[in-house]
Amino acid sequence: MANARKYMIAGNWKMNLTVDEGLRLVERLDSKVGRQTSVDVVVGPSFVALHEIANLLKWSKIRVAAQNMSEFESGAYTGDVSPRMLLTSGCSDVILGHSERRGHFSESDESIGRKVALALANKLMPIICVGETADERDRSETESVLARQLKGAFPDSVKENVKAGQEIVIAYEPVWAIGTGKVATPEIAQNSHSFVRGWLRENLSATIADSTRILYGGSVKPDNAAGLLAQEDIDGALVGGCSLKSSEFSAIIEATPGYTPEVVTESGAAKSA
Ligand code: PGA
Repeated sequence: MANARKYMIAGNWKMNLTVDEGLRLVERLDSKVGRQTSVDVVVGPSFVALHEIANLLKWSKIRVAAQNMSEFESGAYTGDVSPRMLLTSGCSDVILGHSERRGHFSESDESIGRKVALALANKLMPIICVGETADERDRSETESVLARQLKGAFPDSVKENVKAGQEIVIAYEPVWAIGTGKVATPEIAQNSHSFVRGWLRENLSATIADSTRILYGGSVKPDNAAGLLAQEDIDGALVGGCSLKSSEFSAIIEATPGYTPEVVTESGAAKSA
């Protein structure tokens, strides 16, 4: 294992799969990887499927994430979904600041910061997405873009809560690699991850930098996952397209360093297979 942090493989279904299709997918996934605890597995269904999926996974180790959340607690915000609604639907995690939210829905760094703060106040674990576009990379702006997005995502209240022990996960997702099949090389991804960890060290603390998981996202597939996950600062993956098929998503989980399938013995105790 490249480091002491537990790997996390999270699926972002985006605007795909009906409730029934989602249920069928998680049934298959649960029977394959739902009893093991060597890798944290997360699924990210649409809002309308969250409650039923979370219900089906009630006794599973698989966690459920929403793909977005309102920046307001409750009230007259037509179409928005509040943190309490997510929590009471069975979500433990929420993906925030995905580049598709930033790009198509004009979410600003500040708005994402307010969402992260609200998620933590409601005991939801945010998976905070950051990443540069192809143009920004060409202009050598990757690090300044990441620093700006991180600064926005960590207003003072977030810093305080994280310092007090609340967990966050960061996902580095270069926009040019999302849904394009153009995966970042392990070296490119590692450089950005190392920059993000350095930012956490400078702006929060060394302990937080060392313990925070940083996932890579952008065209992760069963055949490129191992190379990425072997990098020192890559602690998992945020998977879009390949999270829509249980066989491909499980193959990525199985390719994760330290993955151990577990079986339940007759006495009920879990042991490695
Ligand atoms: P992709 O999406 O795996 O389909 O590239 C990743 C993401 O957007 O989280």
